[in-house]
Amino acid sequence: MVSPKTLEVVKATVPVLEEHGNTITTVFYKNMFAEHPELLDIFNETNQKLGRQQTALATTVLAAAKHLENLEVLLPQVMQIGHKHRALQIKPEHYPIVGQHLLGAIKEVLGDAATDEIINAWAEAYDEIASVFIKVEADMYQNAMWSGFVPFKVVKKDITGSDIAAFTVQPEDNGFDVSKLPLKAGQYITVKTDPKDSDHIALRHYSLYSVDSSDGLKFAVRRDNKNAYRGLVSNHLHDNVKVGDTIYLSAPAGDFELNQSLIEQNDVPLAFISAGVGITPVFAMLEVQVKTNPKRPIIWAYACQNQEHHAFDERVNALLEQAEQVQKNTFYSEDNQRLDETWLKTLPNPADVYVCGSMAFMDSMIDGLMTLEHSGDNLHYEPFGPKMSLSAG
Ligand SMILES: Cc1cc2nc3c(=O)[nH]c(=O)nc-3n(C[C@H](O)[C@H](O)[C@H](O)COP(=O)(O)OP(=O)(O)OC[C@H]3O[C@@H](n4cnc5c(N)ncnc54)[C@H](O)[C@@H]3O)c2cc1C
Ligand code: HEM
Repeated sequence: MVSPKTLEVVKATVPVLEEHGNTITTVFYKNMFAEHPELLDIFNETNQKLGRQQTALATTVLAAAKHLENLEVLLPQVMQIGHKHRALQIKPEHYPIVGQHLLGAIKEVLGDAATDEIINAWAEAYDEIASVFIKVEADMYQNAMWSGFVPFKVVKKDITGSDIAAFTVQPEDNGFDVSKLPLKAGQYITVKTDPKDSDHIALRHYSLYSVDSSDGLKFAVRRDNKNAYRGLVSNHLHDNVKVGDTIYLSAPAGDFELNQSLIEQNDVPLAFISAGVGITPVFAMLEVQVKTNPKRPIIWAYACQNQEHHAFDERVNALLEQAEQVQKNTFYSEDNQRLDETWLKTLPNPADVYVCGSMAFMDSMIDGLMTLEHSGDNLHYEPFGPKMSLSAG
């Protein structure tokens, strides 16, 4: 617990730091990477180049500082971030590096206004916040299905929905049997790659699209190309990684999961709303629901460009056929079919809703569902990017 004086100084200085948030963050990353270039192998290079996520870390420290006397209220957010940190293999020894450079950036940006009293108070506050993350992440390391990045061999690679490559991978170590891992639908694995188009190692998360690992772990990757820009890792996985090649994965992570207390009962319908490659985690959830309790009513809504881009269609249909009450809705944007607020109005309320897709899609779905007064407890979502970039955070 920090001292009352520290609490007072930190709370009094949060507004001025928030005001300079972007500059502090820019200075922080610049200095940290200059002194620790090895961290460029952990942070997402594209995010850095585009200035995306620049503020996530510093903004969260500032937000946490407002709750210094009661950090437990932030546990759900710390858990969500902790899953990502554990998946990326952020370790306790990384925290002092971030702390040192965050304080250094505050000093540099505030200049004379950053008195010793202010800097010491923030050092104490950062240590307190970091210790909460380190503790939560220690449990996650302890419970992870394996430690570090482990080599897997690609045993299968198919194309689905024209631009999505579905991979099945088996551990290279024959003594490591993945068929009995306690995988949860909604979890993601993290791939460590060394693309030739980059000077650095690149890490990316990919959701498991099935929890049936009898023939290996399964994930699917969409080529992520916007205009002239080619996504670094997705194109590398599409173009350079083939059956027989080795890739490195860290253990499944994440807290996007089916509400266990509702799976066995049939009063609250289950609604899966996804777009594009956002189908992956909800496809795994559909599989679990249908296998556990096929009687539960299921609403399946999927949006993509056209039939050619429709991912896993046959496999989804095969699962939906096993369910007893199904409403399936497909929206092809090329045919002007819109998965929008008008359609959301047709959803029963309450419904147990799971949403996954691009940031813009998720923002519009979550806003729409909230406007229609769906309870926050029944809304579950997984952005394929930093969660705090969504308006719902
Ligand atoms: C929890 C989670 C689960 C995920 N699950 C999946 C999944 O199941 N399947 C899946 O396919 N993806 C998934 N993702 C997304 C995935 O992790 C990657 O973000 C995605 O593959 C893009 O990575 P990339 O390296 O190919 O692209 P990046 O190089 O990171 O680029 C990202 C985007 O920015 C654009 N870009 C790059 N440089 C520029 C520039 N200079 N100017 C403008 N635009 C630029 C690229 O074209 C691309 O569209 C998931 C993400 C998370 C967080
Ligand atoms: C108390 C300290 C920290 C806070 C509050 C914090 C906060 C965050 C937040 C909010 C995110 C975004 C999560 C999301 O994607 O939804 C994130 C991601 C990330 N964090 Fe941290 N973090 C802290 C410490 C660290 C440390 C010590 C490191 C390693 C040096 C680190 C490395 C990363 C990386 C690599 C990502 C993924 C983003 C990217 O690659 O651009 N973080 N962190």
